[in-house]
Amino acid sequence: MHNLKVITASTRPGRKGPALSSWILEEAKKHAEFKIEHLDLAEINLPFLDEPNHPRMQKYEKDHTKNWSARITEADAFIFVIPEYNFGYPATIKNALDFLYNEWNYKPVAFVSYGGISGGTRSVQALKQVVTAVKMMPVVEAVNVPFFTKHINDQGIFVADEPIQKSAESMIADLLKWTVALKPMRNK
Ligand SMILES: Cc1cc2nc3c(=O)[nH]c(=O)nc-3n(C[C@H](O)[C@H](O)[C@H](O)COP(=O)(O)O)c2cc1C
Repeated sequence: MHNLKVITASTRPGRKGPALSSWILEEAKKHAEFKIEHLDLAEINLPFLDEPNHPRMQKYEKDHTKNWSARITEADAFIFVIPEYNFGYPATIKNALDFLYNEWNYKPVAFVSYGGISGGTRSVQALKQVVTAVKMMPVVEAVNVPFFTKHINDQGIFVADEPIQKSAESMIADLLKWTVALKPMRNK
């Protein structure tokens, strides 16, 4: 069993991220290989990085960092659910990444992105550069949803069409392969 964390990056009041997170959580649950937990950055509520030491030293002073470290340590894989803000990723996910270092190493990350015409692809491409700096492996298969509000119904539920559904299946299959492949690297 692999430990999969789905991270919701957007935190603003009225955000749409949780609709996409709820959907991808249900998709991931179809895979018995994963034990899944949702990490909502709005609930976790990290301040801007406030640790005096470089995260590589793991000399954390703040309880919120120790708690965040524990959650990320137990993970074997991630799905980041990210919007696109001003052609980039939201600051919340960069801040959450910056808090830690070793805890992210040699772990795969897949992306569910959403936006206007870009479908959040610019956000994902920019974030790939950052995740590789903490030695994460960004998986190629992704879910990118353009004009995502079309897929959110009156009850606020995200309803995927067939291409989106298929992209989720490919992404989770790809993520599982990397999850299995990278585990031995962390045990050395
Ligand atoms: C600060 C800000 C910047 C945005 N910039 C973009 C953008 O560059 N590209 C895009 O497709 N949508 C952009 N949008 C629209 C978002 O796709 C849309 O508001 C979406 O709901 C944001 O995700 P969230 O609701 O989970 O915060 C932006 C929204 C905000 C609030």
